[in-house]
Amino acid sequence: MNLDGKRICLTGGAGFVGSHLADRLAPDNDLTVVDTFDNGRREWLPDGVDIVEGDIREDTVIGEAITPETDLVFHLAADKDPSRDEVGQFRENNALTESVVERCREADVRNIAFTSSSVVYGEAPRPTPEDYAPLEPISIYGASKLGEESLLSVHAHSHDFTVWNFRFANIVGRRLQLGAVIPDFIRKLREDPSELEILGDGRQEKSYMHVSDCVEAMCYVVEHADAPVNTYNLGTRTTTSVRTIADIVADEMGLDPDYSFTGGDRGWVGDVPRMRLSIEKLAALGWEPDDSSDDAVRQATRELLEQDFSSD
Ligand SMILES: NC(=O)c1ccc[n+]([C@@H]2O[C@H](COP(=O)([O-])OP(=O)(O)OC[C@H]3O[C@@H](n4cnc5c(N)ncnc54)[C@H](O)[C@@H]3O)[C@@H](O)[C@H]2O)c1
Repeated sequence: MNLDGKRICLTGGAGFVGSHLADRLAPDNDLTVVDTFDNGRREWLPDGVDIVEGDIREDTVIGEAITPETDLVFHLAADKDPSRDEVGQFRENNALTESVVERCREADVRNIAFTSSSVVYGEAPRPTPEDYAPLEPISIYGASKLGEESLLSVHAHSHDFTVWNFRFANIVGRRLQLGAVIPDFIRKLREDPSELEILGDGRQEKSYMHVSDCVEAMCYVVEHADAPVNTYNLGTRTTTSVRTIADIVADEMGLDPDYSFTGGDRGWVGDVPRMRLSIEKLAALGWEPDDSSDDAVRQATRELLEQDFSSD
């Protein structure tokens, strides 16, 4: 689908990834952003975007956001806390996708791009390709993403939808909030520049992708892949350990703190300690990220050092 002159709805469009996607799409398309603004911010949105404030599980909200004129929905709204470990998160995230799908059927909107996650793979061998099986997530968040992908698959194969599933690595950059590793390290080091507590043993090793590459890749895939279900990993070919992230953040802040470790091989229950996605499918379609994982972390750190985390 050509992303030019389209009417596009972004659920969760005022959040971290959504607002960067809105910046990317706004010059060429008419955008509607629907968001509760729990995590999202109005000031992150470009001028000229229609805003619907509210919870997409409410009929009036989703009905106003997705109309028969809508060409495409980017569905980003989620409870994205991977460490929540409460079964209710499964129901909540699936309810968001259920609401989007039901409204799309009603309004005859047949194109949905969905932000899934690497966590659907659980602790799979690396680099993990999109057709790896069996999919055995180890967190409720991962299970919810897999459930949402399944519901979208049904609508692609039985109701003539076109679906794009993006299985993200860890996305980093300006507007990332506390709860993610780089903002957390920055806040801790601002509070105590001499010491930094690191969750786990610091050897967790994951792929980090800069948000600018992430939104470029999303747009590229929507424009170039048109199967009923188009599932793509979005990540970098390389990984960065948590300890290296600490080194990069400390270096960018001009500090040399002592590290302490909470211990164990992972940060929280359900944390996947090692993640690297195969991006061969994305490369075969014709797109490669600009940055390595370490580059993405360093660039994001520089951007996030301009951000104030004390009021969050
Ligand atoms: N950031 C990452 O590294 C990462 C990795 C894998 C997957 N993802 C997925 O990408 C998407 C975007 O992530 P993000 O980092 O931008 O998160 P975010 O929390 O910044 O954005 C999500 C937005 O959805 C909104 N929202 C939540 N529930 C809502 C509801 N019921 N109705 C309307 N709006 C609602 C929030 O207010 C927020 O603005 C999510 O689906 C997330 O699971 C993100």
